Amino acid sequence: MSATDLDTAASVRPHDDSPFVRACRGLPHDHVPVWFMRQAGRALAEYRAIRERHTFEEVVHTPELAAEVTLQPVRRYGVDAAILFSDIVTPVQALGVGVEIKPGVGPVVERPFRTTGDLDRLRPLEPDDVDFVLDTVSILVRELPVPLIGFAGAPFTVASYLIEGGPSKSYSRTKALMYGEEPTWHRLMERLAGITLASLTGQVERGASAVQLFDSWAGALHPDDYVRYVLPHSRHILDEVGALGVPRIHFGVGTGELLGAMAAGGAADVVGVDWRVPLAAARRRIPTGVGMQGNLEPASCLGPWEGVEQRVRDVLTAADGAVDHIFNLGHGVLPATDPAVLQRVVDLVHREGRVEDRRGRGAEPADG
Ligand code: CP3
Repeated sequence: MSATDLDTAASVRPHDDSPFVRACRGLPHDHVPVWFMRQAGRALAEYRAIRERHTFEEVVHTPELAAEVTLQPVRRYGVDAAILFSDIVTPVQALGVGVEIKPGVGPVVERPFRTTGDLDRLRPLEPDDVDFVLDTVSILVRELPVPLIGFAGAPFTVASYLIEGGPSKSYSRTKALMYGEEPTWHRLMERLAGITLASLTGQVERGASAVQLFDSWAGALHPDDYVRYVLPHSRHILDEVGALGVPRIHFGVGTGELLGAMAAGGAADVVGVDWRVPLAAARRRIPTGVGMQGNLEPASCLGPWEGVEQRVRDVLTAADGAVDHIFNLGHGVLPATDPAVLQRVVDLVHREGRVEDRRGRGAEPADG
């Protein structure tokens, strides 16, 4: 994208001057931005209070409720970004694929995909199919004091739920299709990529400031297989969303060996790093000019504050004042987390995180 395009995008989109969006673009800003994956959810009493009266599906399908739970962590913690409250299976659900989100388990598919004919259950997504999601985005863009991150599941991760029928440890059915019936595999991935792209485009058109593509389970793949069977489809989505002028974050779990590929060829502006990879090592794997998001161990927040504090400082030290670092957990907030701990994390990052503008210093280290 040219500088002129960026300027145009900056002039029309709310929160483009926020630390979060500027960090995504590698531009200087005044504090290290922080938000948490799954910041809205069961760790919050105010979320559980809503869930006592409504099912997860009701919340997702009712724009006022979905907007309210998206806002809850922003009010409570003062995080630098909100993430739309929805689910990665929402678009395929909207196309009529029966998926139940079981508490404590995750998405469970009524009739898992087992034959080529199942592809026909995935027609292209129209905006009307997910009007409740887009209406939620509109409410949030109006009410939020910080940028809204739109999101979708990447084709591999959504396919793994459709094929396995639910969460999996081995992804054996998914991989059997991938290795055994490559043309069918690519047709499935193309259909899911189309659905994902339509969903993200709708969210951006309604005013989302950035998007995150969740390929949560891509870490189950050998890097060569990731590049052959998965990356082209995710790349297609990210390239098209990039043309809309919003930053793109590409995230997965256990992706230490995939980090370089996930950002190759300008496909992503920021790569999400899980807690298993030291941020300094991730930096060496992710191309220069691409930012990093992460990567506090989520479970560390279940331990005493002193340990959390040390780990937060370690992440900040490893990030080394980079303009393109966004502080986050390495994966989602665990439901047992005490919100008071997350509050202290936000405050500590805001107080002690530093952002250095190294522009014009060439390759020289900041201190000399
Ligand atoms: O705050 C946020 O991050 C926004 C909301 C969000 C949810 N799911 C809320 C949710 C987002 C971005 C997602 C995406 C999602 N959904 C992913 C990708 C992110 C990741 O964690 O890697 C995945 C793999 C899913 C599938 C899914 N949906 C799982 C694994 C679960 C958890 C099951 C459980 O009960 O532990 C869900 C349900 C879900 N999605 C909940 C929330 C808050 C819990 C629902 C409840 O019972 O209240």
